[in-house]
Amino acid sequence: MKIIMLGAPGAGKGTQAKQIAGKYEIPHISTGDIFRANIKNGTELGKKAKEYMDQGLLVPDELTCDLVMDRIQQDDCKNGFVLDGFPRTIPQAEALDAALTKIGQKMDYAIDVDVPDENIVNRMSGRRACLDCGATYHIVSLPPKTEGKCDHCGSDLVLREDDKPETVQKRLTVYHDKTQPLIDYYKNQGILKSVDGTQPMEAVFTAITDILGA
Ligand code: AP5
Repeated sequence: MKIIMLGAPGAGKGTQAKQIAGKYEIPHISTGDIFRANIKNGTELGKKAKEYMDQGLLVPDELTCDLVMDRIQQDDCKNGFVLDGFPRTIPQAEALDAALTKIGQKMDYAIDVDVPDENIVNRMSGRRACLDCGATYHIVSLPPKTEGKCDHCGSDLVLREDDKPETVQKRLTVYHDKTQPLIDYYKNQGILKSVDGTQPMEAVFTAITDILGA
C-alpha cells in the first residue's frame, strides 16, 4: 500500500503517518525528519535545507526529489510506504509519478488531513519535538510522561525553530500557494480521500483505517 499524507503544517500528518506505518508494517518516510536528521548531523544537505526551513520556506525541489526517489526504491519499501511531507509541489508530484511509472507502479491513496488555519497556530505552539528520535508531543493533547523528556529515548524535547508563530504563518502561506494545489491533482487521479483532522487523534486514525481497510 502506497500512501501520501497531505495537509497543512501541523495538521497531524506525522502523528497519523507513524500509526499507519505501525499498523500496516510499511516505512514512514518524512522529508522533514530526513532534513532535520541532516541538520543535526551537520551534513551539506542539512546546511542547505536549514536556510529554507528556518524561514518557513520549502527546500528546493532539486534537493528533495532525488532523496525521496532513492528512499522509495530501497528494499523495505517493496510492500509500500507512507510519505509524510512529500510531495509538496506539483513538480514533486510529477517526479514521483514518473519514477513509479518507470517501475510499473502508482500511488494508491492521497489522504488529506483537513484542519483550518485558525487551529494550526495553537497546535504548533504546543508541539514539542524530540530531535533525536523524531517523536512528537503536544503539551495539552499528547503530553510526554515526564515534562520536557522524550518517552522513547529520554532526550530533551524542544519547540522546533520553525514552530514559532511568525514562521508558522509563513509556512501556512507557502502551503496554500504551493501544496494545496495537490488536492486537485490527486482528486483528478481519483485517489484523494479527506479526513476531518480537527477530531481527536484516535478518531482521525479510525477515519483513516476505515479508508485503508483492515
Ligand atoms: P515537515 O516536518 O514536513 O513539517 P510540516 O508539513 O510543516 O508538518 P509538521 O511536521 O509541522 O506537522 P504535521 O502535519 O506532521 O503535524 P504533527 O503530526 O506533528 O517539514 C518541515 C520543513 O521541511 C518544511 O517547512 C520545509 O522547509 C521542509 N520540507 C519538508 N518536506 C519538504 C518537501 N517535500 N519539499 C520542500 N521542503 C520540504 O502534529 C502537530 C501537533 O499537533 C503535534 O503537537 C501533535 O501532537 C498535535 N496533534 C496532531 N493531531 C492532533 C489532533 N487530532 N488533535 C489535537 N492535536 C493534534
